[in-house]
Amino acid sequence: MNNEAAYEGREATLVKHTILKLYVEALAYKVGSVFPRITYVDGFAGPWKSSMENLSDTSPHIALKQLNVAREGLGRIGRFPEMSCIFIEKDPLLARQLEDSLLKSGRVQTTVITGEFEDHVADVTESLDAASDNFSFVFIDPTGWTGFTMDKIIPILKRRNGEVLINFMTKDIKRFIDDESSTARRSFERLYGSSDYREQWRGLRDAEREDAMVDAYCRRVQDVGGFAFVVRAVVLHPRQARTHFHLIYATRSIHGLRAFRDAERKAMQKQEEVRARAQQQKRIRRSGQGELIPAVDLGADDYYSQLRDRYSEAAKQAVLDAIRQSGTLMYDDIEAEALLHPMTWQQDVKGWLKEWKADGRIRIEGLGPRERVPKLDSSHRIVWTS
Ligand SMILES: C[S@@+](CC[C@H](N)C(=O)[O-])C[C@H]1O[C@@H](n2cnc3c(N)ncnc32)[C@H](O)[C@@H]1O
Repeated sequence: MNNEAAYEGREATLVKHTILKLYVEALAYKVGSVFPRITYVDGFAGPWKSSMENLSDTSPHIALKQLNVAREGLGRIGRFPEMSCIFIEKDPLLARQLEDSLLKSGRVQTTVITGEFEDHVADVTESLDAASDNFSFVFIDPTGWTGFTMDKIIPILKRRNGEVLINFMTKDIKRFIDDESSTARRSFERLYGSSDYREQWRGLRDAEREDAMVDAYCRRVQDVGGFAFVVRAVVLHPRQARTHFHLIYATRSIHGLRAFRDAERKAMQKQEEVRARAQQQKRIRRSGQGELIPAVDLGADDYYSQLRDRYSEAAKQAVLDAIRQSGTLMYDDIEAEALLHPMTWQQDVKGWLKEWKADGRIRIEGLGPRERVPKLDSSHRIVWTS
C-alpha cells in the first residue's frame, strides 16, 4: 500500500500530516542552521488508526523522518544540531507499539512517555530547558478538546525558543461550546483559560461564529505565550462543505509564519485532490454507477474556493487599509498582516502589490538595482501614493 492509499477514509488526517511534514521539514532546516538543538514533542502521539505496518502514516514517524532527512542535509553543509523527539501517549498498549516501531529511528534520539500529556508538561519543559538553546516544536493533537487546558500548557506556550501546533477540533467544539450544562461550560473554560470566552461570538452565526470561536482561542494562546503570531489553517471535511478541524500555529517569527503558510498552500492542493476523490466515491456508492470523468477533472465542491476568496479578500483589504492609514509600511509588516489570514500566501501579497503599483496606488522604495520585488528582512517599504 502506498502512503496515500493508507489515508482512504481519513482524508483530513492526510491534510494534517501534509502540513506537519512540510512544516517540520522547513523548521528543521531553518532552525537547525541557527540553534544547536531541536526537540519535537508530540503530546498525543498515538499511533492512531494507522494502516501501515511501519506506522509511517502517523505523526511521530512523519516528524522523525523529516528530522532525520534535515539532519543529514545540514550535516552536508557542516552543521550538526542535536535533534530529539519526545512522544507522550496515554494508552500503554499504543505507547508500547510506538516504542517498538522506533527501534530504527535513525540518529534522532527518541523518548516515549506513557501517560497523560498534562501530567508530563513539567518534565518535558524541564528536559527542554536542561540544555541551553534548545528550540522546541510541540504538537498537541487530541481527539477532543480536553487534556490540554490552558493553565496546564502555560510553561510550553511561554518557552521563548519554541513553537506550538494545536489541533482544534472545530467540528465537535462548535457543537458543544454553547451547551448550558455545567460540565461542558467548565471544560471549555479550562480549554480557553477564561470564563468570558462565549462573549466573543454572542449573536454571530455560521461561518462568522466559527471564525470568532477559533480566533478567540488563538488570541488566548497569543496572550498567554506572548507569541508574535498565532494563526490557523482550516482543514475541511472530505465529503461535506464544512470545517473538520483547525490547525493552530503559534510562532515568534515571520519566517515561521511564512513557512507555515507555504506548507498550508501545498496541503490545500492535496486537500482538493482528496476531497474530489472522496466525493466521487460517495456519488458512486449512492448511485451504484461508475463515472467516466476522473475525480481530479471533476473537482470537489466549491466550498474551498468560497473560503479562499473570503479569506484572501479580507487579507487584501486589511493590507490596503494598513498602507493607506500609515502612509509607509515595511514589507515585513505587510506580509505579516496578510498571512494572519487563512489560505493567504506570500504569492498573493506579491500579486496585490504588483496590481496596486500598476494602477498608481503605491510605490515600492528601497529596492536594489537588480531587485524587482520586495523581500523580508530588507529595508523595502511600500508607500501610499494615491
Ligand atoms: C488523534 S490521536 C493522535 C494522532 C497522531 N498525533 C497522529 O497524527 O498520527 C490522539 C492520541 O492521543 C491519545 N490520548 C488521548 N488523551 C490523551 C492524553 N490526555 N494524553 C496523552 N495522550 C492522549 C489517544 O490514545 C490517541 O492515541
